[in-house]
Amino acid sequence: MNIVIIGAGYVGLVTGACLADVGNRVTCVDHDPAKLDALQRGQVPFYEPDLDAVIVRNVAAERLSFAASLEPAMRHADIAFIAVGTPATEDGSADLSHVLAASAELGRAVERDTVIVVKSTVPVGTCERVQRTIDAELRMRGVPWRATVASNPEFLKEGSAVDDFQRPDRIIVGTDDPQAQRLLAALYAPYNRNRDRLIVTDVRSAEFTKYASNVMLATRISLMNELARLAEKVGVDIEAVRHGTGADPRIGHHFLYAGVGYGGSCLPKDVRALARLAAEHDQSTPLLDSVQAINDAQKRLLSAKIREHLHGRLEGATVALWGLAFKPNTDDIREAPSLVLIDELLRAGATIRAYDPVAAERVRQAVPDARLQLCRNARAACEGADVLAVVTEWREFKSPDFRWLAQTLAQRAVFDGRNLYDPQYVEDCGLRYYGIGRGR
Ligand code: UGA
Repeated sequence: MNIVIIGAGYVGLVTGACLADVGNRVTCVDHDPAKLDALQRGQVPFYEPDLDAVIVRNVAAERLSFAASLEPAMRHADIAFIAVGTPATEDGSADLSHVLAASAELGRAVERDTVIVVKSTVPVGTCERVQRTIDAELRMRGVPWRATVASNPEFLKEGSAVDDFQRPDRIIVGTDDPQAQRLLAALYAPYNRNRDRLIVTDVRSAEFTKYASNVMLATRISLMNELARLAEKVGVDIEAVRHGTGADPRIGHHFLYAGVGYGGSCLPKDVRALARLAAEHDQSTPLLDSVQAINDAQKRLLSAKIREHLHGRLEGATVALWGLAFKPNTDDIREAPSLVLIDELLRAGATIRAYDPVAAERVRQAVPDARLQLCRNARAACEGADVLAVVTEWREFKSPDFRWLAQTLAQRAVFDGRNLYDPQYVEDCGLRYYGIGRGR
């Protein structure tokens, strides 16, 4: 098929590259010329495992190309995806200006019957606005083409996006139009060999499902974090509780990890946006409000523990920090728990020696403070430090040399924000261990 993707951001690029990889001809359209130049040379503007290889081989095979305008790709397009950002506005609601601008542009560029697919995360009712916007343009042009708008929310996880796209656990398509249904079923057939992945619903339910999924995930994390706080107080190890509760198939083991709070570009934004949508409909959201409040508090937990260990004397202390990205395998630092920890430590007068395999440069730009020293590797970050805080569970942090750490860290303590380590083993090596909910 001929596919046009508007927005060469995270979702657009992964979608475009993967669809090209199964034989489609894909044009990714973006207004940023520097980005387009870099992509044409195979340079991806963010870190995502495997994505650059998929882009390079599909550009070489002339299945994937990049363009600054919708013309002429729309002349042949069977499907056009809207995959532009929907950042949060001041009040937490989703900013739809990019989506609506893309819709108007599409209305001006459609040259045949085309299915328009909204992949951006958008509040209920947006696809209908997109449809109205495009229809108005088509009417103004006096052309006979039909543009059918469908919702197809994206469930990619950063760090495993290519794999998630190629092996989806579900593909949600929201449309009442049988032709659009058939076209999208055909598009996704390579990822739906057993015909058990595609879920077709009405447009509004598809839009809502995206928020419901992310909000459910966020709620699960905040609940585990709340239980972890209590576990600590009553001498219980939340890790044992995680194993036990996760064994119930109704609960399951995934996404049950207590930690330093959820971050990233989606969960925090989507919880806020859904709460905002509810407010617009005069509905209160006590659960969502608590999910957010717990998460905000959780991001501050590690600095409180460090302060306590140092008897309140953070001024002049040096903290080694492992992990800056909001999760492993990405350089994304949006709403990352590390940023809250850094802010609190710097404000309290501490120095930070930080290391992250890929996200350091982004943090350097976000926090231009000389007391935040970026180190070349994990060991270097610990040299001259009083204590170590682990905030992102990169693989290389999973099995450190604790005896070396005990000799190196002046105040001999490890703050394990992801519950990676066995507390007893760490203490046997001569360090104080602090985790999240590791009461014993
Ligand atoms: C999330 C969803 O998981 C995807 O399904 C969705 O498509 C995506 O948002 C989106 O809306 O685009 P992502 O933001 O990439 O994906 O990251 P997650 O893997 O969900 O992690 C979010 C945060 O939760 C991270 O900070 C992570 O450390 C934290 N987390 C995750 C926990 O604290 N505990 C867990 O058990 C799992």
